[in-house]
Amino acid sequence: MVDQARRKFLKSSALTMLSLSTVSCSLINFREPRDLAGIKPKLGKGLEALADYQIDEIISWGENLFSEQNLNYQQPQLNLAKQLYGYNNDYCAFTPLKGSSEHGVLLINHEYTLPELMFPATYLLNNEQEKLAWVQEAVGVSLFEVKKIAGKWQINKNSKYSRRITATNTLCKIQGYARGAERLKTSADPAGVSVYGTLANCAGGKTPWGTILTAEENFNKSFGGYSKYAADAKSHRAYKIKKQAKFALDKYYPRFDISKNPNEVNKFGYLVEIDPLKPNKPPVKRTSLGRYCHEGAAVTIDKQGYAVVYSGDDSNFEHLYKFVSAKKYDPQNPDSDILDEGTLYVAKFYESGSMEWLPLIYGQNGLTKAQGFYEESDIYIDTRLAAKKLGATKLDRPEGITICPQTGKIYVALTNNIKRLRSGVASPDAPNFFGYVLEINPQGDHHHREMSWRLAVHASKRGGIANPDNLLCDKSGNLWIATDGMEKTKRVSDSIYKLSLKNDQLTRLINTPLGSEVCGPELTPDQKTLFLCIQHPADGSDFAKPSTRWPHFKKSTPPLPTLIALSRKDGKII
Ligand code: FEO
Ligand code: CA
Ligand code: CA
Ligand code: CA
Repeated sequence: MVDQARRKFLKSSALTMLSLSTVSCSLINFREPRDLAGIKPKLGKGLEALADYQIDEIISWGENLFSEQNLNYQQPQLNLAKQLYGYNNDYCAFTPLKGSSEHGVLLINHEYTLPELMFPATYLLNNEQEKLAWVQEAVGVSLFEVKKIAGKWQINKNSKYSRRITATNTLCKIQGYARGAERLKTSADPAGVSVYGTLANCAGGKTPWGTILTAEENFNKSFGGYSKYAADAKSHRAYKIKKQAKFALDKYYPRFDISKNPNEVNKFGYLVEIDPLKPNKPPVKRTSLGRYCHEGAAVTIDKQGYAVVYSGDDSNFEHLYKFVSAKKYDPQNPDSDILDEGTLYVAKFYESGSMEWLPLIYGQNGLTKAQGFYEESDIYIDTRLAAKKLGATKLDRPEGITICPQTGKIYVALTNNIKRLRSGVASPDAPNFFGYVLEINPQGDHHHREMSWRLAVHASKRGGIANPDNLLCDKSGNLWIATDGMEKTKRVSDSIYKLSLKNDQLTRLINTPLGSEVCGPELTPDQKTLFLCIQHPADGSDFAKPSTRWPHFKKSTPPLPTLIALSRKDGKII
């Protein structure tokens, strides 16, 4: 997520830098990209695809998952909120039903809200508490059943899989090494084992056992106030928890007021496991995977049979992590809590092209009482502090992460870092406006502590693509790259790109509406449908005068974050 203040800063910084020769060099690459195929890049109000492709708009913000009663955008009905498809769709995961590529359950993350684009200004002015209620109800997760009928994806509104998880309504279990920790205990949950809702759900990852991890990213922005406990200050600085945050809910909702409830914030910032086919099963916050601004996750089983989860912390100068389970995965009898016990590692990269995973183990390498880690659980609550103590490599916003099914190589999007003043390992550009895709070679097994790395995409050198965010490797050897930030060039919208890992051919497939970024990329198993989430169209404008009214272009309808399906007109693999 890029909040508005940061977005403005990005825009103004980009403009300032246009005059600098190093950056104009990169912008020339936008005009004359090396071997860029596909649609001619442009900036416009609509969504358009390459000629041989078609777009199916499936569902938009405000549509009801359970009935035909959709949101009235001019006179919003808060009583409907828990039934509606939420705002700012990000991650998308398709779970086939009976192995079908045309029938399944979709899980969609809703990352954050933009009230100024969602609702009329008069409504916001007169209903401040309601506005903050929407900020909680329009985020979280949507689950619903879809089927392709006569070429169009339809939603089954009577499905047993339909489910809406918001920041308020679903009791989530807290498991793993921080379960029951003093710092998770609140008056609502004296045992420190549960919490209502999930927040700031950005990207995610599918597990080999059929569940989905949804990533709590910028959870810090919902909390306000300050803790009177000195011990919290260091943690709050590390997580940028401020007295007055962007989406601060503390004015009306005491659990988000850190002065009154200092521990509630420690219950957010996790990977949360959801079983899409078991609607009655509570989501589980897996604390052993660490607490930070999780962008997403990539999950696999290593050669020895252990579950491995890779995840990045999407903030400037933060880190990349790997978790290896303590127990082996048994496909015949999967342990649904396999992610609760294991070892968490953080990445350290070397100029030589090698890298190692440093284990975060209590009592070792400064993770001790003397250094402020009073209990083992502190490592899993203050993971950023623990990683810094170990000397982990500071990266440029590690976002999307995916594993190539053919080669086992891991791809990590490093979106940008305009605050970087000096080059670093795996971070050659300073400042880094355009980003990279980092390739990590596990050297044959994800269990290895030592691996090697290279930059598979160095955007400022390659041209034609910038600001990689969400990634997906397919079964045909392509890396799908969704971008977030290309619009700041003032010439090019964000897009979804297909990069062939065999011949390096880069193809741009769509032009997206003003203000939007592309999220989600998810393929059906037959690779004929590519689901994409178009997030925050018209960002930077408002409800009265949006910069685009995509997708409906009606006066009565604001711009709407929307899930789309992209496919080839000839029905072949995309
Ligand atoms: Fe929510 Fe880092 O994108
Ligand atoms: Ca976003
Ligand atoms: Ca983004
Ligand atoms: Ca993202």
